[in-house]
Amino acid sequence: MIKVSPSILSADFSRLGEEVKRAERGGADYIHIDVMDGVFVPTLTIGPPVISSLRPVTKLPFDVHLMIQRPGRFAKDFVRAGADILTIHLEAEEEVEATLEAIRKMGARPGISIKPATTFEAVKPFMGLVDILLIMTVEPGLAGQQFMMDILPKLEEARGFIEEGGLEVELEVDGGINEVTAGLAAKAGARVLVAGSAIYGGNVKNRISKIRNSASNALG
Ligand code: DX5
Ligand code: ZN
Repeated sequence: MIKVSPSILSADFSRLGEEVKRAERGGADYIHIDVMDGVFVPTLTIGPPVISSLRPVTKLPFDVHLMIQRPGRFAKDFVRAGADILTIHLEAEEEVEATLEAIRKMGARPGISIKPATTFEAVKPFMGLVDILLIMTVEPGLAGQQFMMDILPKLEEARGFIEEGGLEVELEVDGGINEVTAGLAAKAGARVLVAGSAIYGGNVKNRISKIRNSASNALG
């Protein structure tokens, strides 16, 4: 029911393969990979070559979060590198529909993400085209920020829309998730929880189960 997607942004980059395995052994459902271009967000991270190097390390789905301007230009590279879920930002792409359709055609699961200031209303027209809706609970760009409580109503709105429409869209949250906020996010409707600093900042297995339990308990 609840899925946990550890973000390797907070892992030790000098031993990334082992860090991915550590998440897998700890019971992760997905591996969250944050791609940043220094344009859409101020930070630069990793690209397709790192993803293809990690591909043989695990069978877990790669949940690739593109924080890059005009992601459609690179969709093929990321799918080829091994992305299973490929999430683009609504704010970063003019050709949203074409890009989501292209991602699906290439065999990956398309996702769309919105920044804190973007309303659910803005992303509604694309809900029939995606497998994942990723709602940011921090300003994208950095790990270790504080969960924005004022995003909870947006999660509730999205969950309501998904349920009413009988849509098979996974509602994912990213930013500031820990064992406390995981429960709040799940209660508001999130089912996939991304966490970076809260997981890699300690015993990965324990942290994953704490986040999962907090979310599952909140669902009752
Ligand atoms: C932020 C990234 C997140 C980040 C989460 O721009 O998209 O995935 O790694 O880190 P924490 O869990 O530390 O907020
Ligand atoms: Zn992310």
